[in-house]
Amino acid sequence: MAFRVAERVRCAVQEYPFEGQESMPGGTLTISVGVSSYPSKAKTDSDLIKNADDACYRAKFLMKNRVEAYHSILEEIQNDVDESAKEIIASIKTLIAVINAKDKYTYRHVERVVYYCDLLANRLNLSDAEKKIFIYAAYLHDIGKINIPEEILMKANPLTQEEWETLKQHPRNAVEIIRNVPALKDAVPIIEQHHERFDGAGYPSGLKGKEINCLASLLTVADSFDAMTSLRPYQQKKSYPDAIEELGRCSGTQFDPEAVQVFIGTIQDIL
Ligand SMILES: [Fe+2]
Repeated sequence: MAFRVAERVRCAVQEYPFEGQESMPGGTLTISVGVSSYPSKAKTDSDLIKNADDACYRAKFLMKNRVEAYHSILEEIQNDVDESAKEIIASIKTLIAVINAKDKYTYRHVERVVYYCDLLANRLNLSDAEKKIFIYAAYLHDIGKINIPEEILMKANPLTQEEWETLKQHPRNAVEIIRNVPALKDAVPIIEQHHERFDGAGYPSGLKGKEINCLASLLTVADSFDAMTSLRPYQQKKSYPDAIEELGRCSGTQFDPEAVQVFIGTIQDIL
């Protein structure tokens, strides 16, 4: 119901004529709306506002002029697992909250990577089961950072060899955290391999070319694209066209060329 009302408001705003309309880029007024509901999606009033704000962020990100309803991937995972794994999922939820508090860059980053992976899954016509696993992997890929000290995650200067070795442990740390959840079994290789490189120079296993899980290769591209186009303590933010060019430059070395091709096709469709 709220979604339909929001959509009606969005359309009415879009069609509203205003003075100077011809000289405006796009020629219309646009709004983005985030929708959530109480008590089904939020337990408290502040949760309700936070969820609607999250959904609004998703609506504004890239596409704009749209209405998004809040949904929580962890809640979807909760519905998929049996009783014995519910406790582990609850702990994962706590871990994610801790990571979000520790590294403010990770929070929105994960959300955007999930968004890209969702677009990729639709473009590739993945089955529902594959799509689900891909989205879970995208959501949990950096959960292993929980064990990495904040000074390393937020360091503006290049990492020392020792710090770098510590950071490189995060894919395996993630696997340790989720390996007792049977519903996430198929997400393990995707998460474990999200820092492997096509030329074999990645970590943790130095896998090469098609030895790397194809969904992991796609996740790597989505993850790197978002890292390039968002502000980090250690780098300048790139524009979307510059980041696309960079993906092309690193295709065949860092990235799987097929994954780059699919990703660029997907992104160019929505930009
Ligand atoms: Fe990572």
